[in-house]
Amino acid sequence: MSLLRVEGLHKSFGGVKAVQGVSLAVAAGELLALIGPNGAGKSTCFNMLNGQIRPDAGRVTLAGQDITGLAPRAIWRLGVGRTFQITATFASLSVLENVQMALLSHQRRLMRLWAPLSAEDPTPALALLERLGMAEQAARPCGVLAYGDLKRVELAIALANNPRLLLMDEPTAGMAPAERVALMALTARIARESGIAVLFTEHDMDVVFTHADRLLVLDRGRMLAEGSPEDVRANPAVREVYLGHEGRH
Ligand SMILES: Nc1ncnc2c1ncn2[C@@H]1O[C@H](COP(=O)(O)OP(=O)(O)OP(=O)(O)O)[C@@H](O)[C@H]1O
Ligand SMILES: [Mg+2]
Repeated sequence: MSLLRVEGLHKSFGGVKAVQGVSLAVAAGELLALIGPNGAGKSTCFNMLNGQIRPDAGRVTLAGQDITGLAPRAIWRLGVGRTFQITATFASLSVLENVQMALLSHQRRLMRLWAPLSAEDPTPALALLERLGMAEQAARPCGVLAYGDLKRVELAIALANNPRLLLMDEPTAGMAPAERVALMALTARIARESGIAVLFTEHDMDVVFTHADRLLVLDRGRMLAEGSPEDVRANPAVREVYLGHEGRH
């Protein structure tokens, strides 16, 4: 059974039909890439799934529960994680403290933050950082990290909420090609190990074709193609509108 099921999403901004009838499903442990040219409606889809934008029409269900139009906080509480918002990390706090904060927040214990974080058992946060290859940098302030390492901390923060579904809108934007591949490889491994469903968008076709189990191609708000990387790569309509003139990166 699919963990995430999306049926007939629509959203217009004034006269712009940003998303017109998008349906998709993602299973636990599966990586679905949402791709398409600039302005295709990818971010609008993400924002409808995470609660930032209310759809004009359509339905979103998570493990059978209708979450359409719920507030972002409520959707997050149900286990929908988002990654890679730079502002989600506190630059002056250490890597460890950032992850400890995220774990406390997940356990709804943030009210205890008047107590020093150093009084908390660091073991769970260190274990998470270990999984992401960031344990050695635990004591460094986030503000001094290299960009790729900051992305790993942001992934750790998202995972601290123990998500069932991760939404990743251009997670590797701004990263060097080798770092992009490494970050998505890490994400894919963790998603498969932990049975997390991942919906991601990405302009780098190497990353998409290497790590996605399935692809969904949008063009001007509409679904153009869907299928395995091989099917989509061979689809003439996709080649025409998308692969022929790659994205902006
Ligand atoms: N808040 C908004 N107000 C008005 N128009 C918007 C708004 N958000 C998106 N749009 C328009 O909706 C369309 C889809 O935009 P969206 O950001 O979803 O595309 P995208 O696929 O994420 O593109 P990109 O690859 O550039 O990130 C575009 O025409 C965009 O200009
Ligand atoms: Mg976008």
